[in-house]
Amino acid sequence: MLVGGKGTRLRPLTISAPKPMLPVAGVPVTEHQVGRAREAGVTRIILGTSYQAEVFSDYFGSGEEFGVELDYVVEDVPLGTGGAIRNVADALESGPDDPVIIFNGDVLTGLDIAGIVQAWRDADADVAIYLTRVQDPRAFGLVPTDADGNVTAFLEKPQTPEEIVTDQINAGCYVFRRSLIDEIPNERPVSVERETFPGLLARGAKVIGYVDDCYWLDLGTPLAFVQGSADLVRGVAPSPAVPGPTGEALVLADAEIASDATVTGGSVVGRGSHISSGAVLASSVLFDEAVIGEGAHIERSVIGRGAYIGAGAVVRGAVVGDGARVEAGNELLDGVRVFPNQTIAPGSIRFSSDQS
Ligand code: GTP
Repeated sequence: MLVGGKGTRLRPLTISAPKPMLPVAGVPVTEHQVGRAREAGVTRIILGTSYQAEVFSDYFGSGEEFGVELDYVVEDVPLGTGGAIRNVADALESGPDDPVIIFNGDVLTGLDIAGIVQAWRDADADVAIYLTRVQDPRAFGLVPTDADGNVTAFLEKPQTPEEIVTDQINAGCYVFRRSLIDEIPNERPVSVERETFPGLLARGAKVIGYVDDCYWLDLGTPLAFVQGSADLVRGVAPSPAVPGPTGEALVLADAEIASDATVTGGSVVGRGSHISSGAVLASSVLFDEAVIGEGAHIERSVIGRGAYIGAGAVVRGAVVGDGARVEAGNELLDGVRVFPNQTIAPGSIRFSSDQS
């Protein structure tokens, strides 16, 4: 599993924790992935870490508690997605022709993991790439295939309409023949998407696409993050690791919710959090120990650990960092990010039509 990225698009949440360790539906993204891999029969997982590496080993330890054997390989300098795959080679126990499954650490998916390995075997492929179809592929790596499912090109983040030749995108999970991992250049940054895959095609390797239209979401942006969390809570996204029954809300231990507050849309109320009278929390994520004041309205937002939202404040499509204070009467709308421990003074940000 590749978990070493900096997660810049999710700042400021990723200042205090690496993206794969941020809690979605109560537990780290990686825990959902480990749970699904275990269900598919995977017994040993290596985490390719770099940014805040120790946070992973502190939480997952040997993996015993999570039903798998976990090993960690740390990059002193980030090696990129391809370099990270090469860097774990010494820790692999597989033979040269065995399959090695690689997961991006920020993807939620219902992928049939055993299915993609079987497709790789059936095709006697060098690499199988999980592909999903999206309506707007511009932010992704396009991967067209021929009638037999062979990958014909890699078009990373296409800009012009002529480049949009397919709606199939790289969904961030691969099966590699082990020997090909050993061939990735060592000890320099390599992008698997921009260098390794195009290089394999150029030299005639057999690279197949495995199109699966099951649930898929890249959790890289704040809006996707709240969407993924809500989908897990409501049972739309499959995971054996959600710590509670699926439904409109996941309320974690020691949280307090006033009887006339509304918590809906797959929201998560973190451990020890407090939601005051008349407040509304819709499709949002409250990390642990957050406090929501009376009548505040939180929608499609992430509220960091220990953050405070004052009475009557509106937070919609925004991210509030750990320990920040959004005092009463503020209105934070789409895309606003409040940094950790920052204070927004009472009534200083408003966007309503009554603004003077
Ligand atoms: P952004 O900065 O927001 O783009 O996020 P990111 O740093 O996570 O990059 P991206 O989403 O492209 O990364 C895809 C996956 O690869 C994520 O699971 C990252 O954790 C992982 N990843 C990216 N770069 C590295 C790296 O240099 N080393 C390792 N070990 N993993 C990486």
